[in-house]
Amino acid sequence: MDKRILGNGLEVSAMGLGCMGLSFGLGPATGREEAIQVIRRAVWRGVTFFDTAEGYGPYTNEELVGAALQPLRDQVVIGTKFGFDINDQGETVGLNSRPAHIRAVVHASLRRLRTDHIDLLYQHRVDPAVPIEDVAGTVRDLIAEGKVRHFGLSEASVRTIRRAHAVQPVTAIQDHYSLWMREPEQTKFALCEELGIGLVAWGPLGQGFLTGKITRGMRFDDPADLRRDFPRFTPQALAANFKLVDFLSGMAVRKGASPARIALAWLLAQKPWIVPIPGATRLEHLDDNLPAAELALSASDLREIDQAFAAIDIQGAPLSAGLDAAIDR
Ligand SMILES: NC(=O)c1ccc[n+]([C@@H]2O[C@H](COP(=O)([O-])OP(=O)(O)OC[C@H]3O[C@@H](n4cnc5c(N)ncnc54)[C@H](OP(=O)(O)O)[C@@H]3O)[C@@H](O)[C@H]2O)c1
Repeated sequence: MDKRILGNGLEVSAMGLGCMGLSFGLGPATGREEAIQVIRRAVWRGVTFFDTAEGYGPYTNEELVGAALQPLRDQVVIGTKFGFDINDQGETVGLNSRPAHIRAVVHASLRRLRTDHIDLLYQHRVDPAVPIEDVAGTVRDLIAEGKVRHFGLSEASVRTIRRAHAVQPVTAIQDHYSLWMREPEQTKFALCEELGIGLVAWGPLGQGFLTGKITRGMRFDDPADLRRDFPRFTPQALAANFKLVDFLSGMAVRKGASPARIALAWLLAQKPWIVPIPGATRLEHLDDNLPAAELALSASDLREIDQAFAAIDIQGAPLSAGLDAAIDR
């Protein structure tokens, strides 16, 4: 698979693998052996970039990624995240980016990931109680100690990114970005260009919607599935938003691809420093997605996609109000 450079010379495969859904967030966790197989198959197929977080599970996703990648550690780049306050019952009860907490999380993450360094360490959400300079300074120290290689921020505002970058250069931001979530184009692209920061796109398949595999009658009522609370996934919104899938499916037939591949190829075509991290818990989904790195869309294809999406009035907010409120704008 082709490689891309995020910021600060960090080279990764053009597409990464989002590992969250293997343990958390999109329904029941995948069986351990099956999950390990998915991660290792991704490496075998050329993926070198893996995304996890302390908060996924919590903890179980990092443990899984660590077990799967331990024998392949020198071939891969692992990104993980700190920033939540997690109580003894494993419930996320708030944010916590205090320096001592960051250090404690990093030590625990290193243990779970079975490694002596984290390639890319992100703050998962900005903590308004802790100046970002203190966060960036702590990560800078962890980099100096060799425990961390690169610094990232997820869903941080331009102002926060600038302030952090002045203390410790930011390699990548990780934002929600896909065909049906275009906010970073307006808010972050210019900054990424200016500062030479990469954009890791989470939710690149619209949490599965843009693949066309979510059918018209599907209901999201599993408490383990975050989409249960996403206004875009109510039956009414889904019904209205199917126009997007109908368009992608039509184009996929013409291109001999799949809707997921079109959605990912479109993302890759936006900027050379964008790296999507689609989640997949099934081998056939992984196999379906990876060829998107080789699918070249022409300028007229890209125009057609943009025009089709602009003409559709997408229904429902992308995230629940609670998750949206944690985004630093
Ligand atoms: N920074 C943040 O705040 C943040 C937030 C959320 C997620 N993330 C990261 O971003 C990654 C990706 O985001 P995401 O998982 O929320 O959403 P996503 O990648 O847009 O969608 C994942 C969903 O798409 C389905 N899927 C994938 N490929 C498919 C295909 N070819 N055909 C049909 N269905 C397909 C998966 O199904 P199967 O599971 O059945 O394969 C899964 O349900 C996560 O794994 C996580 O690492 C970061």
